[in-house]
Amino acid sequence: MRKKTIREIDVQGKRVLVRVDFNVPIDAGRILDELRLTTALPTIEYLRAQGARIILCSHLGRPKGTVVESLRLAPIAARLSELLSVPVAAANDCVGAEAEAAVDKLTSGDVLLLENVRFHVEEEANDAAFSQRLAKLADVYVNDAFGTAHRAHASTEGVAHHLPAVAGLLMEREVDFLTRAAVEPEKPLGAIIGGAKISDKMLCVRNLLSIVDVLIIGGGMANTFLKAAGHPVGDSLVEDGQLGTASAVMQDAGERLLLPSDVVIADAFDADAQAQTVAVGEVPSDWRILDAGPESIAAIRDS
Ligand code: 3PG
Repeated sequence: MRKKTIREIDVQGKRVLVRVDFNVPIDAGRILDELRLTTALPTIEYLRAQGARIILCSHLGRPKGTVVESLRLAPIAARLSELLSVPVAAANDCVGAEAEAAVDKLTSGDVLLLENVRFHVEEEANDAAFSQRLAKLADVYVNDAFGTAHRAHASTEGVAHHLPAVAGLLMEREVDFLTRAAVEPEKPLGAIIGGAKISDKMLCVRNLLSIVDVLIIGGGMANTFLKAAGHPVGDSLVEDGQLGTASAVMQDAGERLLLPSDVVIADAFDADAQAQTVAVGEVPSDWRILDAGPESIAAIRDS
């Protein structure tokens, strides 16, 4: 990777602000999928071994500038502490007097998790003054939030203008992997893309189409493509504003685009809902598509 990483700087004794992506599913304080915690461990462990004072910063959910109790990061600090086998302090805020006092207590190798950065509306606005307040906490900035790297927010982009900035080990690993796949791919190359919305992934889809032999569309965004292809999608999540774009992509991609041929549908988005598998084209008006069906999964395996 051509970006400078934490291996190329001296962090001994320094306050290192690490933007991580701890946007994990949580139910009543229980973390349902901790992959984003475990993949952040190499950077944190490396920085600890180098004697840095580690200040972790993340968002959780979309609280839109207000404090939402269920989106506090304390349960994540507790689990991270177990994974690292060291105490992880949790600050009540990510900027200001409380955050600064928590940082002042850190000694070499200590780890602090700041409170949800999206409790401040300035984060998503990439507000310059807010970026400076974040930067004030540290001597060095590390971006290891690969899952949030597509957002130009204060803690992912703005802050890097005010501190020496380098990539973390997760960011390095993901960028290296993507570079290999995009620049010198082993052929044949397939990509699977999912998620709820196509609107923020269109550039990515178009770029992928220029390099892949097959592009598999899954997740909620498949519904928009299915509707654009003329299939009834009932009550499914659909981005109606993107139907034209989806049609254009399907036209460009031709047979390289793989959409589900059968789908699992339910009469509600609920654990107790009735569910069944039907061919695309047979979704009743009051049911919703929630997954690809077995025939589609077999076709993906064979592609
Ligand atoms: C994600 O889970 O996609 C990232 O954490 C980014 O979250 P966001 O879509 O709320 O910005």
